[in-house]
Amino acid sequence: GCFCGELSSPLVSSNRLLIKGGKVVNDDLSVVADVYVEDGVVQQVGPNLNPEPSTGLVVLDATNKLVIPGGIDTHTHMEFPFMGSRSKDDFYTGTKAAIAGGTTMIIDFAIPQKGCSLTEAFDTWKSWADPKVCCDYSLHVAVTWWSNKVDTRQEMETLVQNKGVNSFKMFMAYKDIYMVNDGELYEAFSFCKELGAVAQVHAENGELIAQGAKKMLAMGITGPEGHELCRPEEVEAEATQRAITIANAVNCPLYVVHVMSKSSAKVISNARREGKVVYGEPIAASLGTDGTNYWNKDWAHAAAYVMGPPLRPDPSTPGFLMNLLANGDLSVTGTDNCTFDICQKALGKDDFTKIPNGVNGVEDRMSVIWEKGVHSGKMDENRFVAVTSTNAAKIFNLYPKKGRIAVGSDADIVIWDPKATRTISAKTHHQANNFNIFEGMVCHGVPVVTVSRGKVVYEGGVFNVTAGEGKYVSRPPFPPYVYKRVRQREQVGGKEMKDSNFIAFYLMEKYHGLVPALTVVC
Ligand code: URP
Ligand code: ZN
Ligand code: ZN
Ligand code: ZN
Repeated sequence: GCFCGELSSPLVSSNRLLIKGGKVVNDDLSVVADVYVEDGVVQQVGPNLNPEPSTGLVVLDATNKLVIPGGIDTHTHMEFPFMGSRSKDDFYTGTKAAIAGGTTMIIDFAIPQKGCSLTEAFDTWKSWADPKVCCDYSLHVAVTWWSNKVDTRQEMETLVQNKGVNSFKMFMAYKDIYMVNDGELYEAFSFCKELGAVAQVHAENGELIAQGAKKMLAMGITGPEGHELCRPEEVEAEATQRAITIANAVNCPLYVVHVMSKSSAKVISNARREGKVVYGEPIAASLGTDGTNYWNKDWAHAAAYVMGPPLRPDPSTPGFLMNLLANGDLSVTGTDNCTFDICQKALGKDDFTKIPNGVNGVEDRMSVIWEKGVHSGKMDENRFVAVTSTNAAKIFNLYPKKGRIAVGSDADIVIWDPKATRTISAKTHHQANNFNIFEGMVCHGVPVVTVSRGKVVYEGGVFNVTAGEGKYVSRPPFPPYVYKRVRQREQVGGKEMKDSNFIAFYLMEKYHGLVPALTVVC
């Protein structure tokens, strides 16, 4: 097929690429095959391909290597203005680091201040990203406030219909900044469902965090350990349960971002067992390290791990989350990449509540998951592809353009050496900050070559990237992977759905004094 009409970059259009002799790994099948790429799109997958040689043909040998769909990082914050600072990795260094680690697409978050326009936030983030991105990207949008007057609904609808947004994040924490209450969650979830969007939540009880933080500071606990102590696991688990309950009351699919604790993961896993449409996203940090670091004697070290929700001091947490990721209870992985250097973290030197929240991960996610997931024996190569790429593509309606190596798919491809090792270090990483939370970790599983839309952008440690070369990727509403099930539930379970809606309505009114819009019984 010819896709020339869509091409804007001559670098991409001149490229014909043949990847020879590797094992092509998709989420459902592995097969030894060649992959032939033209115009940034996979044209053929099969044994012994022999395209006509010409000056434009690049041939890569993948013998004894895996050929996998490029990673999709579902959760990043590049150059995010946050907590009196701005995250250090911008869309250039952030996507370059992604590419070095075998990730070929990121989904970042446009986050409006309370009272500010959602579409304006989207346009702002896009204007930051477009000139800088080295790989494809997309944007979730946060709903940080709700108004029937200004009409938040109208803005969400515009984003879905005209801007290619099919996911909205609601914060249950960051009181007075981003936090929304249960009634607002209810409205947002209801409308996501109507639009065919995926509702995402930052699940932590913001009121309890505010009270807990006050208590810690009053007790004289001002260091990074206070950040975890003021918001124990149940603060995350309670919000997770509450979000699931509210989403289920309006039959809205729910995606819990940055699952950080065993308690929260168990809540998600139980809900899935009850048939609820909910997805959990552990991140590289929660799978690869833990909250014992908050008690490190070196303040800078401890502060570098501060993020919300916090990493957990229970050292069995990463292994537990990996088990659930392997068995399907958790679905997909991101990083929450939101890097701050030591100087920025020092804003909270005397008060942990002022330490900018965020950690690295965009470069190391794939290797960390290979090491802790596949090399440890918990998952196979296909599940690895599912949780690093395919499931994200399915949930956010990018599949099979992204998340699969097949004819017609974007040639976002990584040649992966499962036997090679590398040692993660801030000294060698490509991220903009001067600390790496995985410092010293030896990982099997190394990206040897990264291909973005048919162009070799990274090979053996050498980059061939251009700022702005990546493209914004639109995501249509009603991802079939998510919404076919939602529809089916509605068609079949009509009466039961209405009853559960009614009960949710009744309980919310009784306990919270809220009267949500009467759009639920339809
Ligand atoms: O600590 C974090 N997670 N920083 C980024 C903002 C968020 O909540 O995702
Ligand atoms: Zn063509
Ligand atoms: Zn968050
Ligand atoms: Zn985040």
